Amino acid sequence: MAQLWGGRFTKETDKMVYDFNASIRFDKRFFRQDIDGSIAHVAMLAKQAVLTMEERDEIIAGLQGIRGDVDGGRLAIDESCEDIHSFVEAELIRRIGDAGKKLHTGRSRNDQVALDMRLYTRLQVIETDGLLRQLLETILAVMEENTETYMPGFTHLQKAQPTTLAHHFGAYFEMFKRDRQRMTDIYKRMNYCPLGAGALAGTTYPLDRAYSAELMGFYGPTLNSMDSVSDRDYLIEFLSALATIMMHLSRFSEEIIIWNSNEYQFVEIDDAYSTGSSIMPQKKNPDIAELVRGKTGRVYGALMALLTTMKGIPLAYNKDMQEDKEMAFDAMDTVKDCLTLFTGMLHTMKFKKDRMAASAVNGFTNATDAADYLVNKGVPFRDAHGIIGRLVLYCIEKDTSIDALSLTEFQAVSDKFEEDIYTAVSLKTCVEKRLTVGAPGPEAMRRVIAVHREYLKEDSLYDAMPKG
Ligand code: ARG
Repeated sequence: MAQLWGGRFTKETDKMVYDFNASIRFDKRFFRQDIDGSIAHVAMLAKQAVLTMEERDEIIAGLQGIRGDVDGGRLAIDESCEDIHSFVEAELIRRIGDAGKKLHTGRSRNDQVALDMRLYTRLQVIETDGLLRQLLETILAVMEENTETYMPGFTHLQKAQPTTLAHHFGAYFEMFKRDRQRMTDIYKRMNYCPLGAGALAGTTYPLDRAYSAELMGFYGPTLNSMDSVSDRDYLIEFLSALATIMMHLSRFSEEIIIWNSNEYQFVEIDDAYSTGSSIMPQKKNPDIAELVRGKTGRVYGALMALLTTMKGIPLAYNKDMQEDKEMAFDAMDTVKDCLTLFTGMLHTMKFKKDRMAASAVNGFTNATDAADYLVNKGVPFRDAHGIIGRLVLYCIEKDTSIDALSLTEFQAVSDKFEEDIYTAVSLKTCVEKRLTVGAPGPEAMRRVIAVHREYLKEDSLYDAMPKG
């Protein structure tokens, strides 16, 4: 049991207490960030003449050696250490001796862990942004090809008005675009460095916090040392944004599950993204979409868990905060997996355009347009609504659709109907005439698609970030 604080104690820690307290099992995940932080710290200490240049070089070489050996599989992280910070320091001292004992000068594990978690989360924000961008690319490609793929739009899951596949997918484009904007917001707010806050009250060494912050690509140092060691707002914001991404993915999944059902058959999920049944040979199940929908629960859980953990903690650091990690890491992994798989599923999915168009025709989605036709012939809208309502009832009884009626049948409910009613209620006309900004009319849609194309040319968070 390698621990950093034996001096004051006269007894060994109880074994179960030690295990309960230890975090290496999960904080070993930010091993690289821990080393990066230590390298920046040591470089700063030497610049400020707290360490000599020789000590700096020796320590940095030692740390790089440890990183290389762990990455190369030559050194295993010793899980009997209390946490990743203890492991790295113990290994450094084992390798380079006395110089290694100076690494922790002017630093506490409180600002160290605050830094490591922030560096790790920052990387996750960037990676999540990149995956969202790929999803948006996939959605936009579907949009570009389907501005004239007609389908019913729904309200209350009842057929409502005709729209296009491009328009339907465009709604998800907006959602995931906002999710990306949230990544940028979080990045901007979180990108300040807590290193140098010490345990809670700074240190008496002449640290140059701005310098170490700059070495790690931060905009600058955080401005209150107590807040620095006890702030996890950025993580809460990130988990909240991840929860929102999952909410969006879950809604999209639900629609795909419905569309892929035997009744709808609007889409066919590729074999590579479906699974079978052990008993029913005919089955091809949309498990990936269902799992994405299901995993939303654990991501929401991570957000609720951290909010609850943080709510009663007095300033500054308290051990409760070690609980910020496991569920947050699980949420980060889950969302990245879901984004990757979902994008692949969309990319390989087949759209059954004929089924979609037939469904739009059969569902009276052109009823509003039939009413608008009468309005154009001088009938007040409320009366037109009543007339078309009766016409729909007639169609239901005859098991037919509005556009399949004869002119005599039309004229039986209103003498305003003329031959041009057929073009007025055709799916093509109904969609093409919807040209307000944001509407499915192909011309309006193409203008929006052009805006999206430009947007996707912009730098992603990875390209935009200062390289530390
Ligand atoms: N494992 C701890 C955590 O994750 C590191 C900080 C420990 N600090 C302390 N004062 N015990 O929060």
